[in-house]
This record gives sequence, C-alpha cells and structure tokens, in this order.
Amino acid sequence: MSDYAEFINKIKTKTGIDLSLYKEAQMKRRLTSLYEKRGYRNFTEYYQAIHTSKELLDEFLDRMTINVSEFYRNGQRWDVLDKKIFPMLLSKNKRLKIWSAACSTGEEPYSLAMVLSSHIPVRDISILATDLDAGVLERAKVGLYADRSLKEVPKPVLSRYFVNEGHHYQVTDEIKRTVEFKQHNLLNDPYGSGFDLIVCRNVMIYFTEEAKDQIYMNFSKALKPGGILFVGSTEQIFNPSKYGFESEETFFYKKI
Ligand SMILES: C[S@@+](CC[C@H](N)C(=O)[O-])C[C@H]1O[C@@H](n2cnc3c(N)ncnc32)[C@H](O)[C@@H]1O
Repeated sequence: MSDYAEFINKIKTKTGIDLSLYKEAQMKRRLTSLYEKRGYRNFTEYYQAIHTSKELLDEFLDRMTINVSEFYRNGQRWDVLDKKIFPMLLSKNKRLKIWSAACSTGEEPYSLAMVLSSHIPVRDISILATDLDAGVLERAKVGLYADRSLKEVPKPVLSRYFVNEGHHYQVTDEIKRTVEFKQHNLLNDPYGSGFDLIVCRNVMIYFTEEAKDQIYMNFSKALKPGGILFVGSTEQIFNPSKYGFESEETFFYKKI
C-alpha cells in the first residue's frame, strides 16, 4: 500500500473524512506542498504529526476543504435565479425549502436570501446552509466580509443589507436570521427531503466520478418533483436524465 493510501485510511478512522472520494492528483498535490512546508518528508511522518497536534490537524482540514467563495458568484447565473427560477418556484409555493450545500463562509446562502427578498418578505425566508468544515460555519455566523468578496453585489443590495466597517462589511441581522448553519458531510451524512431548491456550487469539481454520481442521486431524491438543483459554472451535468433531472437553464436542473 502506498503511504498516501495508508494516510487515507488513517484519516478516515480519525476524522470520518474519506479522502479517496476526492480527486487524487489534486488532493495529493495540495497536501504534499503543505507537509513539505511544515518540514515532513512523506505522508507517514505527516500523519504521526497530525495525530498528536490539534493545530496541525486543523491546518490539514483547512487545506483539504477549499473555502474560497464570494457573494453572487458568477453574477449572470444569479440573474437567471432571480428572473426565472424563483418566480417559477414561487408560482407553485410561497414558502420555499432551500438548501445551500457546501456553503463555505456563508456568502452563498446570504446571497440567496438577498435575491429572494425582492420576491417575498424577509421574515418568510428560511435557508439551510451546510458545510463539512466547522471553522467556516463559525465565520459564516459572524457574517463579516472583506470588500473583495462583494464585488458582484448590486449597489441597492449593498446599501440595504450590509453595514460598512472600513474595509469590511457586516451582513445585517435581518438577513442573518434567515439562515441556519449546520455541519454536514455530503459524502457521509443523510440528506433531507422535500427541497424546492438545492444550491451546490464549486465543490463537485473536487470529487471523483463515483462520489459525484452518488451525490447527484442523493440531491435528486432530496428535491421535490419540479425542484431545482443549481450547480457551479464549471459543473454541468453531462447526463442529467440518469439522475431524474432535465436541464431547465444552463447550470439549473429540474427534478422530473
Ligand atoms: C470552494 S468552496 C464553495 C463555496 C460556495 N458553494 C461557492 O460556490 O462559492 C467549497 C466548500 O466545500 C466544502 N466541502 C468540501 N468537502 C465537503 C464535503 N464532503 N461535504 C460538505 N462540504 C464539503 C469545503 O469545506 C468548502 O467550504
């Protein structure tokens, strides 16, 4: 067994995270550069260090979960959500059940609440937002962002839902109250059901084909018929019908 394969087994036992479901070359490269920076020579030495140091374990978890995000990421897609998808979903049901999966530091679920607030009162919005990484969820709950993550936010939204604090912006309590953050591993944990909209963007790219297959199947089961899956801008599904989806718009799939 290679030392990476052994590392995968030990990490699974220690943390429950199955690295074998993440694309190998990419993950190995990220972790090798990290352990080399810390002065270890191979995965065996690195695991011994992680095993005894909470700090190194946290650093490893931080590195393997790539947390980059921003508000209204790929702005044009959010226009489609606003002009077409939300009106379509709301024509059937005024209380939408929404899940932002792999939400990182919260930019995505808060953007959803902001877009939806032009269709229904903010008090009627409720969004579940989940991520594997407990650290990002804590930051998401605080809701304080550097201005570089807000470059796609429309001006009226910026003045209505953010408070400027120097180079940072604080999301208002009104918007924060619409989102419930919870830890959830897409590769392990049970999925809910009856969702009108699931947003899962810029995480599938890290998974193996086998893992993606399982996740799309789970999303399909978790959606109501007519519900929508909104994916990232490099994450088109090649064979949507395999999972009971049809393409509604580029990057939006409807459960049949
Ligand atoms: C690049 S961020 C994407 C954030 C946001 N969805 C966006 O598109 O801007 C990827 C997120 O996926 C999370 N992630 C990685 N593996 C995961 C898993 N197995 N289950 C749930 N979340 C995971 C990471 O912690 C990270 O926050």
